[in-house]
Amino acid sequence: MNIKVGKLIYSGKAKDVYETDQSDKVVVKFRDDITAGDGEKKDCLDLKGYYNSIISSKLFEVLEEEGIKTQYIELLASGEMLSHKLEMIPLEVITRNIAAGSLLKKFPFEDKQVFETPIIQMDYKNDEFHDPMLNDDISIALNLATKEELDEIREITLKINSTLKKFLESKGITLVDFKIEFGYDKDKNIVLGDEISPDTCRYWDIETCDTLDKDLFRQGECGVMDAYKKVSSMILDPEDMERFGFKEM
Ligand code: TMP
Ligand code: ASP
Repeated sequence: MNIKVGKLIYSGKAKDVYETDQSDKVVVKFRDDITAGDGEKKDCLDLKGYYNSIISSKLFEVLEEEGIKTQYIELLASGEMLSHKLEMIPLEVITRNIAAGSLLKKFPFEDKQVFETPIIQMDYKNDEFHDPMLNDDISIALNLATKEELDEIREITLKINSTLKKFLESKGITLVDFKIEFGYDKDKNIVLGDEISPDTCRYWDIETCDTLDKDLFRQGECGVMDAYKKVSSMILDPEDMERFGFKEM
């Protein structure tokens, strides 16, 4: 698509969003910056933005095939995703299939406990307040969303979870948990935005139970980019690799 990139309209911890010459489309640029602990731990890892952009593109395509609306249009170039412009809702919607991470610090679940019914948790995306956990009454009182919108978000999220879990399992990856974000498109539909990458999910190798996500960075271990590259090569077929110009490190 012939698109002209305009000015920067949003800069987050790992991505920048640019306007384009089409008012309803933006370009999301995935950067190599990586942070943890509310931005306290920082680094820059070569090709991280590229791997996250191709993993997100593939997973958005998988979801679109199941009829789930996403902001994804196409990958324009390495790390640059053409997307529908959304008005983002400041909710971090977290789905947990297995107990891990902060859940174990807050509640007496057993490590790696498998949930028969996935747990959906919503956090308030607000750095000043350190992304606190919400309930529906607080979300509604803060005007983040209506009760009907929260129900719709949960319904879409459950469908995203079952679709991704099945797809990733077929590729040898256990989807432990993940965080997604939604926004409104120009017709006020609730649409999946942001990214679905090893920065925002816990992925374990089904065979070895090895961690293949940002937990490696959070825990100060090495091989972070090897893991992101491994996820890319596990989920992309040869035709995807060709389309996305798969890069070796
Ligand atoms: P948590 O166990 O640390 O709450 O994380 C749950 C999931 O959400 C995990 O897959 C990582 C993801 N996540 C983000 O994408 N951004 C964040 O800021 C946090 C805290 C977690
Ligand atoms: N996303 C948060 C940060 O960048 C926390 C995390 O993912 O662990 O600081």
